[in-house]
Amino acid sequence: MMFSQVIVDALNDQINMELRSSYAYLAMSAYCERMHFRGCARWLRLQSDEEYGHAMKLFDLLRDRGCKIVLKALPEPPMDFASISDVFEQALQHEIAVSEKINAIYELAFREKAYAAAPQLEWFLTEQIEEEKTARDIVAKLNMIKNDPAALLDMDRELGSRTPGED
Ligand code: FEO
Repeated sequence: MMFSQVIVDALNDQINMELRSSYAYLAMSAYCERMHFRGCARWLRLQSDEEYGHAMKLFDLLRDRGCKIVLKALPEPPMDFASISDVFEQALQHEIAVSEKINAIYELAFREKAYAAAPQLEWFLTEQIEEEKTARDIVAKLNMIKNDPAALLDMDRELGSRTPGED
């Protein structure tokens, strides 16, 4: 059974959202580079790559179902932040917004009988639990650290140890 136009539109919109996420994390990485927080910059750049991968998962789903892929314009992401804490607080808010979108598409997929989309969307639901948890943990630690330079540098080192494919 072909996907309905409603679900194709929703999946194309989600491709755009994931690419916007990739762009937003890349902008955050650039800010951290500017502030000399190289570890944070590395973490955010890897996150940007991961978001691109999320977009490609949905791209491949539409391709495999023979649906039209529509790539929409990306807005310019914010390039300036109040602090490193502000960067990760915004990352957390962004992930919460993405989770809400994924939940809505999952519900829509059932309403539209797009059952073939369910396994991929379930992967995204699980991924969002992890992404929100990771961002929430980093925000909590940064709130604890506040402006303690030694602790901030330790945190930067910890985030810089992220490897590709790791949350
Ligand atoms: Fe692809 Fe972080 O949501």
